[in-house]
Amino acid sequence: MKQGRSWLLLCGHVFLCLSAISALATPDVPAGQRPGCPANCGDVDIPFPFGIGERCALHSGFKLNCTIINGTTKALNGNIEVTKISVPKSKIWIKTTMSRQCYFPATRSMNYSDAWVNFTNTPFSISEVDNKIVVIGCNALAYMTSASYVIGCYSTCKDATLENGKCSGAGCCQADVPKDIQYYKAYFDENYNTTKIWKNNPCNYMALMEKAAFSFNTSYVESKVFGETYKWLVPLVANWKIRPWSCEVARKNMTSYACVSSHSECVDSTTNMPGYHCKCSKGYKGNPYITAGCQDVDECLENAANPCGHGICENTPGNYSCSCHLGNHMTDGFCVPIRKSPHFPAAPVVGVFFSLMKMNIDGRKKG
Ligand SMILES: *[C@@H]1O[C@H](CO)[C@@H](O)[C@H](O)[C@H]1NC(C)=O
Ligand SMILES: *[C@@H]1O[C@H](CO)[C@@H](O)[C@H](O)[C@H]1NC(C)=O
Ligand SMILES: *[C@@H]1O[C@H](CO)[C@@H](O)[C@H](O)[C@H]1NC(C)=O
Ligand SMILES: *[C@@H]1O[C@H](CO)[C@@H](O)[C@H](O)[C@H]1NC(C)=O
Ligand SMILES: *[C@@H]1O[C@H](CO)[C@@H](O)[C@H](O)[C@H]1NC(C)=O
Ligand SMILES: *[C@@H]1O[C@H](CO)[C@@H](O)[C@H](O)[C@H]1NC(C)=O
Ligand SMILES: *[C@@H]1O[C@H](CO)[C@@H](O)[C@H](O)[C@H]1NC(C)=O
Ligand SMILES: *[C@@H]1O[C@H](CO)[C@@H](O)[C@H](O)[C@H]1NC(C)=O
Repeated sequence: MKQGRSWLLLCGHVFLCLSAISALATPDVPAGQRPGCPANCGDVDIPFPFGIGERCALHSGFKLNCTIINGTTKALNGNIEVTKISVPKSKIWIKTTMSRQCYFPATRSMNYSDAWVNFTNTPFSISEVDNKIVVIGCNALAYMTSASYVIGCYSTCKDATLENGKCSGAGCCQADVPKDIQYYKAYFDENYNTTKIWKNNPCNYMALMEKAAFSFNTSYVESKVFGETYKWLVPLVANWKIRPWSCEVARKNMTSYACVSSHSECVDSTTNMPGYHCKCSKGYKGNPYITAGCQDVDECLENAANPCGHGICENTPGNYSCSCHLGNHMTDGFCVPIRKSPHFPAAPVVGVFFSLMKMNIDGRKKG
């Protein structure tokens, strides 16, 4: 209740309110790029170690080609389109093909188009937490193979009630992706096909794709809506890391060690494949892969609520400190009113105004 009021007072102040809102609206930090290298390609932010052209990327695995295709600017890694890159999450969003099996009346045959991804010898692997295997169709058995895995599922419309948003065997089935694979190929079992139902259900589909970007629509089994919805290319989330050394080995050669920013740390890959990624230390944010890329977080400004409760928040390098106004005391790092008299309004309100002026001065100094 009290906290709510002090936030209102803070927001009454234009400078603080605006900076707080902009901090809240952009949780992902902007792209950090080396001097002289473009930080975006069309709408896609390009943070280092990614870079446009040989000179701007850490190595050729992170090289992008920013090019205009059919009037749209696209970032390509090899011939794969990249739509988003996250440094803090160490992830990349790309577009890949889907598999399809369609009945072709003219030749009375099934036509196949099998999707595959091969990230061997690249920094990328398929994220098992962000993606899933989706099969759509009224008589479809499809599976993906990867090194030692074969994973698939069966989808039917027979005696089944199809429901929007539901993918559990009726017109749509799904399966989990194995951990950290670099290669897959998708197949259909040819004994399950749409030869007899093609008038209503011409195609079966399979996609290994981003979970969050998929929701089953019953119209997907009837026509080419699924393919057309995604323009035949589905989003896929991949992890990326600096290969092929562990942190311990990588640190021995500072010329090639990628965590170059001060206040950055090395994080070992949790999979069998050796590699690492870098992160900014606690209390810092930005791009750990570039010099001075990790910048101090101003905890006092960036949090929606004052991290000191009712107290005075002061930013420090990598942290913040709290001090309490008269009539408050520190409990677990927060300033809370001393519960003596039931109404004690004067001191906290004065205190808030006092801290407002203080923070405003700090803000001006920075700006
Ligand atoms: C970038 O991609 C376009 C379109 O695929 C291609 O024509 C061009 O040669 C590529 N440029 C480089 C530097 O690879
Ligand atoms: C460009 O657009 C045309 C017409 O829409 C299409 O046929 C072609 O495949 C597109 N090219 C690429 C590279 O996407
Ligand atoms: C079958 O699919 C291939 C590849 O998708 C395509 O090039 C070909 O034209 C298709 N054939 C028929 C008969 O649809
Ligand atoms: C995947 O790519 C690697 C390196 O480019 C190649 O050696 C390998 O044969 C490919 N794997 C398959 C199954 O195509
Ligand atoms: C379709 O499936 C049936 C039944 O399993 C099979 O006999 C037939 O050969 C398949 N047709 C094609 C074109 O693959
Ligand atoms: C399903 O797709 C149809 C178009 O094919 C669209 O009109 C409808 O809004 C979609 N329904 C849902 C729940 O997404
Ligand atoms: C350290 O890395 C640099 C750049 O990759 C390389 O040229 C050099 O040979 C490496 N030094 C050692 C001792 O491995
Ligand atoms: C930040 O400050 C708090 C309170 O002073 C302290 O408990 C904490 O250990 C500090 N954190 C770091 C990373 O220094």
